[in-house]
Amino acid sequence: MKTMRANVFRGVNEFGIEEVPRPRATPGSAVIRITLTTICGTDLHIVRGEYPVKPGLVIGHEPVGVIEEIGPGVTGYKVGDRVLVGAITPCGQCRACLSGNQAQCGHGEGYLAIGGWCFGNTINGAQAEYLLVPHAQANLAKIPDDLTDEQVVLLADIASTGFSGAESGGVKIGDTVVVFAQGPIGLCSTAGAKLMGASLVISVDGDDVRLAASRRMGADVVLDYRHCDPVAEVIKLTGGVDVAIEALGIQQTFENCLRCLRPGGTLSSLGVYSGKLQIPYQAIAAGLGDHRIVTTLCPGGKERMRRLMNMVRGKRFDPTPLLTHSFPLDQIREGYRVFGERLDRVLKVAIRP
Ligand SMILES: NC(=O)c1ccc[n+]([C@@H]2O[C@H](COP(=O)([O-])OP(=O)(O)OC[C@H]3O[C@@H](n4cnc5c(N)ncnc54)[C@H](O)[C@@H]3O)[C@@H](O)[C@H]2O)c1
Ligand SMILES: [Zn+2]
Ligand SMILES: [Zn+2]
Repeated sequence: MKTMRANVFRGVNEFGIEEVPRPRATPGSAVIRITLTTICGTDLHIVRGEYPVKPGLVIGHEPVGVIEEIGPGVTGYKVGDRVLVGAITPCGQCRACLSGNQAQCGHGEGYLAIGGWCFGNTINGAQAEYLLVPHAQANLAKIPDDLTDEQVVLLADIASTGFSGAESGGVKIGDTVVVFAQGPIGLCSTAGAKLMGASLVISVDGDDVRLAASRRMGADVVLDYRHCDPVAEVIKLTGGVDVAIEALGIQQTFENCLRCLRPGGTLSSLGVYSGKLQIPYQAIAAGLGDHRIVTTLCPGGKERMRRLMNMVRGKRFDPTPLLTHSFPLDQIREGYRVFGERLDRVLKVAIRP
């Protein structure tokens, strides 16, 4: 049996490169040879034991590669095509997908959340030499020749999720927007809010590197929560924003988002929470403020990827400044260390098999 190198999760803080069986294409699926991938904040949750996955799983959900093998029933592709695959791989045919909730794909008649996220969650993921792509017909997005791997790898999850914060929030021309937290996701929300037509984008973080990056991604005002009360500043500047985007996943930022909203405003939440969330009585105007609270899981599928790649081609958005470091797959543990401890001004790390 042919084998490959892959980053395998074994237990809390126990993970690393192992020799594992190489996947073979099955009907409806394809195998790609990974040429570039990265590490997500969610992978940090996994290796730290904060998000449970089963031991033995290959981690990672941000694949760029070349088609190696095509399963029966998949048409319009050939071996050697360069492809980007979203972190979320909808089937395009189930109840959730056909209701427009592609990210919640895959649970038949009953809905259960997060079903569209398979890579590095329920099936082997992308931090490997090869990857089996399920529902290949719906998920292999051909990369135009004029785009490099580095220009597209952050579209699989980071940009797709970040932009969705602004899209789900319904940002309109002229809106005022605040984004709480400027990690890679929040930075892309900042860029997304600007793309959607916001007249003022305010961002909040407490890390100088990220605040500087936020300006480059399009924030008009950056607030350092270590030195000011961000809610008071936002209210002073806007009287209450139209849309507040949560990009961290803790009570404080969720609550701050709510407190920044104008009546009728929208809280668009992207963070992954680990515990009960509370809604303060005044911030929600006793439940009578016409507020909207929406949550979004990263949109996936090949059409989403095609659109995002066109944003890069059309020079509307450049994700490459976020890719600050690079490691070979064999040194992925060092990549996790640098990314996880936020060393050396890191934003995202490229991993090359
Ligand atoms: N919805 C989705 O589909 C989806 C997809 C990917 C990641 N996520 C989640 O999005 C969140 C953000 O991911 P990331 O990789 O950008 O995170 P990250 O950990 O890289 O960045 C978090 C940022 O928050 C800042 N921060 C800390 N405390 C703060 C506070 N009180 N106020 C404002 N900023 C503060 C930090 O300085 C840091 O810059 C995580 O919860 C992640 O799991 C969601
Ligand atoms: Zn992710
Ligand atoms: Zn589906």
